Amino acid sequence: MHTIAPTPSENDPVGLCMAGVISPEVAVSRLLLGHVTGEGIAAMLEQRRAEPPSLRWQALSTLVEARRPELERLLAEVVRAGSNHALPATDPLAGAAEIAGFFDRAVANSPEASVALYSLGDPAILATATAEILDWLNERALLREDADVLDLGCGIGRLAAALAPRARSVLGLDVSEGMLAEARARCAPWPHVRLAHTTGQDLDGLAAHSLDLVLAVDSFPYVVRLGPTVVARHVEGAARALRPGGALVVLNLSYGRGVAADVAEAREWGTAHDLALDVAGERPFALWDGLAYVLRRRG
Ligand SMILES: C[S@@+](CC[C@H](N)C(=O)[O-])C[C@H]1O[C@@H](n2cnc3c(N)ncnc32)[C@H](O)[C@@H]1O
Repeated sequence: MHTIAPTPSENDPVGLCMAGVISPEVAVSRLLLGHVTGEGIAAMLEQRRAEPPSLRWQALSTLVEARRPELERLLAEVVRAGSNHALPATDPLAGAAEIAGFFDRAVANSPEASVALYSLGDPAILATATAEILDWLNERALLREDADVLDLGCGIGRLAAALAPRARSVLGLDVSEGMLAEARARCAPWPHVRLAHTTGQDLDGLAAHSLDLVLAVDSFPYVVRLGPTVVARHVEGAARALRPGGALVVLNLSYGRGVAADVAEAREWGTAHDLALDVAGERPFALWDGLAYVLRRRG
């Protein structure tokens, strides 16, 4: 008789990793966000050394040992800056300025970790995560060489730079000038990538029917933090800017609200703007635990 192992709790990143639910990189980043030191993570692993499957344990253990000094540095930064997942909701303009300040400081500390803590500051880990996003967009036929793309909350421009060879134009928008400076350096080889500051309140500046893809990778949770009016303005702006057949792709819609609530909200966007909800809260990536939503403009 087979016994089915219970799914580990969301509060047990090591157990989730060993059960194959999340990657070692995401497990470590979650532990850092919980203020567990590199030493603490190593001790946790030691206690679970005998648990199957040993290959997952080994992968986690190898990652932690290889990156030990970096973990202590990242943890110090997480403790100093506070979690960006927990920024308080204030009025939308002040909230956006606060978020911008957070990311200005984060990018100065570690560009890679500032956009993806699970990269643990390692450009190679971030490149793998970026490649899996690009591959997935490609598999879903969301990339086209004649496409005009908006990278909303572009951060250091890793997606804008990766999209550049595969698109006609890329516009990156961000609230953080520090992020934009880094993105400009990384996207310098691509004259058809434009990077611009946004106040983070709406997408009113986008022309109607001017885009084929609006991509928001781990940036929409910050829009959500600015409140429902700001969310509605963004979705309305994106829907208006999309050409028929174009798609709004949101990878992570909120933090901590739960997938059922986010799917319900995405469904409301679809109804309000005549967008088909093609993907609703799937977790398509191996390295990153981002949840995907794809809304396609009909026609
Ligand atoms: C976690 S980072 C992700 C960056 C990038 N999308 C990536 O995956 O590499 C979130 C980014 O969203 C930006 N951001 C937050 N709120 C925003 C808003 N309302 N409008 C535009 N950008 C925003 C932040 O400044 C930050 O660069």
